[in-house]
Amino acid sequence: MTAPIELTVGPIAHGGHWVARHDGRVVFVRHALAGERVLARVTDAGKSRFWRADAIEVLEPSPDRVEPACPIAGRCGGCDFQHVDPAAQRALKTAVLAEQLQRLAGITWTGAVREVPGGPLGWRTRMRYRTDEQGRLAMRAHRSHDLVPLPEQGCAIAARTIPTQGWPAGAEVDVVGRAVLVDGHLRKGPETLTEEAAGRPWQVAADGFWQVHPRAADVLAEAVVDALDPEAGERALDLYCGVGLFAGVLAERGVEVQGVESNPATVALAAHNVPAGEFLAGRVERTMSRLWRRADLVVLDPPRAGAGRAVVEQVVRRRPRAVAYVACDPAALARDLGHFLELGYDLTGLRAFDLFPMTHHIEAVAQLVPRD
Ligand SMILES: C[S@@+](CC[C@H](N)C(=O)[O-])C[C@H]1O[C@@H](n2cnc3c(N)ncnc32)[C@H](O)[C@@H]1O
Repeated sequence: MTAPIELTVGPIAHGGHWVARHDGRVVFVRHALAGERVLARVTDAGKSRFWRADAIEVLEPSPDRVEPACPIAGRCGGCDFQHVDPAAQRALKTAVLAEQLQRLAGITWTGAVREVPGGPLGWRTRMRYRTDEQGRLAMRAHRSHDLVPLPEQGCAIAARTIPTQGWPAGAEVDVVGRAVLVDGHLRKGPETLTEEAAGRPWQVAADGFWQVHPRAADVLAEAVVDALDPEAGERALDLYCGVGLFAGVLAERGVEVQGVESNPATVALAAHNVPAGEFLAGRVERTMSRLWRRADLVVLDPPRAGAGRAVVEQVVRRRPRAVAYVACDPAALARDLGHFLELGYDLTGLRAFDLFPMTHHIEAVAQLVPRD
């Protein structure tokens, strides 16, 4: 192992790390802050032009630095912002989102990532742990298969803690609301959970998608409705619909909805949750041709990789009067917004929410309308 290197830390970059230079080489350093002088351990000096490193000692701290709530915060691959004051975390996320939009899509965004009630700890309702050889609950280190055992008090951002010992060795343990799954098999709790959002219940599979912050579904449903301003009798597509959250809130406003979702069990739950909707199982990119050729409204909530140009083209071809794009990755959002702009749509609103406190992750909802 090489000796720690001393770094003067530059601005934040997308992905939970800061940019520094060492002997002319770019180093992406985690657990640091802009303006700090740190000693860092190089974690990846592989073949690429840049190195990766973890700050292990702070020589000159930033005023935004705070004591992490969790003793494994600097080693665990989960939280990358625990050392940052929560208000400063949001400012960092705002800077990253603005930078990605400017650089990848030429969009100038002057908004700010908003705080969501609930505080920075104890919010995460869905957790995936590993267990080590001794059956202790652990998290993976960043970009590594190495396991970091949890402290006795458990994970600081988890909504619910479970015993940290006594699990099968080398297993994957998922905590989903009240349910616990070990290697994908339900150990405790119901197979289907009932979540509350937008003033009504939703059936969600213990191993299916639902937002991890308890306020997320409400916050995002409200932002989508605001962005689309639906009217009874209109037609809407809900792409990457999960269990039908957005389709459901639109259907309640008298909108006709079609949804697409790749997980067949999840589609069945969407049909149950939104009986008035029509739901198709399949990948959006392959299924769009089976949907209405015209739609007044479209909501897209793709996974981290984004929707991609082909899907954006298919959306635009339907000439929706408003599109709501829900994004969990600022780079994918920027690339897809770039496609919309090229294809004749304007970005008329963009709200971003801190639905993942203590981590670098961001959630945003964009509103797009046809230019003419
Ligand atoms: C970010 S989640 C959104 C779910 C839903 N809108 C919600 O808020 O609960 C993305 C969903 O898209 C599904 N998915 C992933 N890739 C897909 C694809 N290529 N086509 C259709 N669905 C996909 C996932 O199974 C997941 O349910």
